[in-house]
Amino acid sequence: MSSDKGKKTSSTPTASFVVVANRLAVDRIENADGSTGWRTSPGGLVTALEPVMRANDGAWIGWHGAPEKLEPFSTNGMQLIPVELSETEVAQYYEGLSNGTLWPLYHDAVENPEFHREWWDAYVAVNERFADRTAAVAEDGAVVWVQDYQLQLVPAMLRRRRPDLRIGFFLHIPFPPLELFQQLPWRNQILEGMLGADLVGFQLPGGAQNFVRLVRQRLHLQTHRDRVRTADGRTVLARAYPISIDTSGFNELAASPSVEQRAKQIRHDLGDPRTIFLGVDRLDYTKGLRQRIRAFGELVRDGRLDPDEAVLVQVAAPSRDRVDQYRQLRDDIDMLVGRINGETGRIGRPPITYLHASYPREEMAALYRAADIMVVTPLRDGMNLVAKEFIACRQDDNGALVLSEFAGAAKELRQAYLVNPYDINGLKERLVEAMNDSPRVHARRMRYLRKQVFENDIDRWASLFLDDLTGRES
Ligand code: G6P
Repeated sequence: MSSDKGKKTSSTPTASFVVVANRLAVDRIENADGSTGWRTSPGGLVTALEPVMRANDGAWIGWHGAPEKLEPFSTNGMQLIPVELSETEVAQYYEGLSNGTLWPLYHDAVENPEFHREWWDAYVAVNERFADRTAAVAEDGAVVWVQDYQLQLVPAMLRRRRPDLRIGFFLHIPFPPLELFQQLPWRNQILEGMLGADLVGFQLPGGAQNFVRLVRQRLHLQTHRDRVRTADGRTVLARAYPISIDTSGFNELAASPSVEQRAKQIRHDLGDPRTIFLGVDRLDYTKGLRQRIRAFGELVRDGRLDPDEAVLVQVAAPSRDRVDQYRQLRDDIDMLVGRINGETGRIGRPPITYLHASYPREEMAALYRAADIMVVTPLRDGMNLVAKEFIACRQDDNGALVLSEFAGAAKELRQAYLVNPYDINGLKERLVEAMNDSPRVHARRMRYLRKQVFENDIDRWASLFLDDLTGRES
């Protein structure tokens, strides 16, 4: 990760490889002299696509998260094309339709999805803007890769403007069962939007199958296995590509002396307990935080965990904090943690260390190294990369992962301690089992998990998708 101030590109840039995502691939930083600049986001997607971007003079189109209009600029060999959103669009397209309708609906409706026609209108308008911007940037016959649930209409809008393009779409979150998807008043428009792509990618085969069934039943299109024949005679492929992480990057970072030192310091600051349980999530109601904290709190209250010997560190990164359900969740977690610490803690020894903050990669690697039991208990999750990051950081093959069956990652990480997070008693048993199993059992499970995550890293994910999209053999 490097930083520079970002060079302005004089005219509208063009590119033969274009990524389109709700968020731009950079974060705003403040330089020492008070000026502002941009730094490449540390996320896995950017890391994976950077080499492809550089080789093809690629462009990334996305919302820069700030209200002002920005000219295109380039940084680290990537051209960045900011898309502006008005305040009303942020409220209706981003917080509204994307995160108040689609996000809860696609995650098993664990919170109530709301359907508002003005949110939908804003979603359409913003998707049009992304399609316009992309059509202006993509060179003849360019490869365009559209990302995630915020932009499901872009593939078809783009194809109407630019039939010469090769268009891919990848959904990072679950694609729901028919019964849920059909609640959407705009269900056909969304399906038609996605069918504008040549290749539609999902995290799991189940998502791809839901999609194919839906287009057959709702749009009456001919389908054969993972192929859909569209009304205009094209073939669209719908397949699973489980996303992963920059495994060796995390592994190397965790092995560095500074991270090792920091991990020791963290353990020491926590009172050198025998067992550190760790949770790391965005503060989101899909992540099963309530269940996890309750389970841990009950184990302490019941005397099955001694707070001198076992602590929970929960990092909850602030997220979407203007959406009602997220505010409510924050209050609930504050209260729950406060109650448990108040009832079972003693001076200098709260059983739960709760951090409502996000941290750089180095600090995360140190936390992953410092922990003994990683607890990942979403009620529904497209994949969950935290589980994979933890594994990538465990080069001593020690420690254990407790993982929800309802995370996409559970399909690959079969040697984790799998759990149904709705079953609080079952979760408690799993936590204790993971804690008490011998180092030999931990090492056997961890070796398997590490093999899986090393063999299937983010580079492999990106090249499998792009090879299928461009028709290359890998
Ligand atoms: C999930 C979504 C992404 C999104 C991220 C952060 O991983 O799949 O599309 O960017 O959450 O959420 P935010 O709303 O802050 O972009």
